[in-house]
Amino acid sequence: MTNPLRDPQDRRLPRIPEPCALVIFGVTGDLARKKLIPAVYDLANRGLLPPSFAVLGFARRDWGDGDFEDLARKAAQSGARTAWREEVWSRLAGNIKFVPGSFEDDAAFDHLAQTLSDLHDESGIPGNAAFYLSIPPSAFPVVLKQLERTGMSDNAKSGGWRRVVVEKPFGYNLTTARQLNDLVDDAFTAQDVFRIDHYLGKETVQNILALRFANNLFEPVWNSNYVDSVQITMAEDVGIGTRAGFYDTVGTARDVVQNHLMQLLALVAMEEPTAFDATAIRTEKLKVLNAITVPTDVFTNTVRGQYLTGWVAGERVPGYLEEKDVPEESKTETYVAMRLGVQNRRWAGVPFYVRAGKRMPRRVTELAISFKKAPHLPFHQTDVEMLGHNQLVIRVQPDEGVMLKFGSKVPGTTMEVRDIAMDFQYGEAFTDASPEAYERLILDVLVGDKTLFPDSAEVEASWNVIDPLEEAWAGSTPEPYRAGEWGPRAADEMLAREGRAWRRA
Ligand code: BG6
Repeated sequence: MTNPLRDPQDRRLPRIPEPCALVIFGVTGDLARKKLIPAVYDLANRGLLPPSFAVLGFARRDWGDGDFEDLARKAAQSGARTAWREEVWSRLAGNIKFVPGSFEDDAAFDHLAQTLSDLHDESGIPGNAAFYLSIPPSAFPVVLKQLERTGMSDNAKSGGWRRVVVEKPFGYNLTTARQLNDLVDDAFTAQDVFRIDHYLGKETVQNILALRFANNLFEPVWNSNYVDSVQITMAEDVGIGTRAGFYDTVGTARDVVQNHLMQLLALVAMEEPTAFDATAIRTEKLKVLNAITVPTDVFTNTVRGQYLTGWVAGERVPGYLEEKDVPEESKTETYVAMRLGVQNRRWAGVPFYVRAGKRMPRRVTELAISFKKAPHLPFHQTDVEMLGHNQLVIRVQPDEGVMLKFGSKVPGTTMEVRDIAMDFQYGEAFTDASPEAYERLILDVLVGDKTLFPDSAEVEASWNVIDPLEEAWAGSTPEPYRAGEWGPRAADEMLAREGRAWRRA
């Protein structure tokens, strides 16, 4: 029951979902074990789940509830962010159920539907359920059909709300993304579909909106009059691990640029939303995504790379072609850099350099806004040799924070000016550690808040950026780079030709 004295807009009280169930398909997979189950525990531990809450696992295993609970406990214990409290787990564990079966198995889905409706009497959960599809996209059609056939996707029949959570990849290109969007929107209603881009669940990513729209300081200079260029970097020190089967068919552009980096670009370049809600924010993001231009000369303005064997953090690591299950002749990229534009009044002429790669020297995701140099410097030229562009750097991870770089006089008898940094670090400014992206996003699904979820139009607009590049790259061989280096030399040359350099992240 809602509290009549409580203003739904008041965010000071925690948002707690109504009694509900979370149904996870693919519960034995990596994502469920490493992220979803620990996030559910952390939410429970923070008191953010309703007293009547159930987790239903579905997978092809000959298991009972106890076996699943065992897996879930281990997953939660090793992945939880917050302290382990046995009493929190016992309460959660009392409502953990497992339904065995394959996706083609009608009887198993009937059993799942029955288990869900039994929750009404057993646990006082009135039909509310979110279905998390943590499964390969090829399995989506059959699972969605089963949810439709059994009536589980039907709000009216269930007597509560029914929502579906779809993990990336959202298709392989525009055509397949549209098919996928139609498929989910048909099985559920469009407003009940939650597409996860876990970057939007990160505190530092949400902070881009706070930084830009809660302050007056940055807006006047946030345009082509003052901004020289924008760099968005997502570097990972890890390789592809055991994901060759997936990764080799997609490559970096489809894996992380189409989604995470396009969303970062949209947040940094969008206009102010008319309200802080899902519709208004999505409207503005979509406008920017639609305004992105890809270079006409793709080979001059993009670079694809593939890592060779090398050293990362003092350890010798294999090259991409030596990774388990990667085809010998693979031309899949593990690094990509591109120069994009945003064709609107605010950004015309400002290059957006976007790069992402595996096996880089270290893990770092950041956005750097580089400002134009002062039009005139009334100093002796030798005094300002060490003065670069003013820069605002949003550090998404790790070392979360924001850094402002500007020139300052070096103490002494001359007027020497050089770059210094003003630094905001989450660890110093706030006492609480930030929640994991999945904690935030799962909670938002359960309370029905879509602000941090891209809609189908955004997904399709992002494919419109990637598709022409993929077409141009088809059949080309990526440039080699040694593991532990910042990508191929060609990526440095791409910026050098325009008198710029990648920021040393
Ligand atoms: C995923 C990609 O979406 O994001 C992975 O599929 C990548 O390849 C991961 O490693 C990175 O996420 P994070 O949160 O560690 O930056």
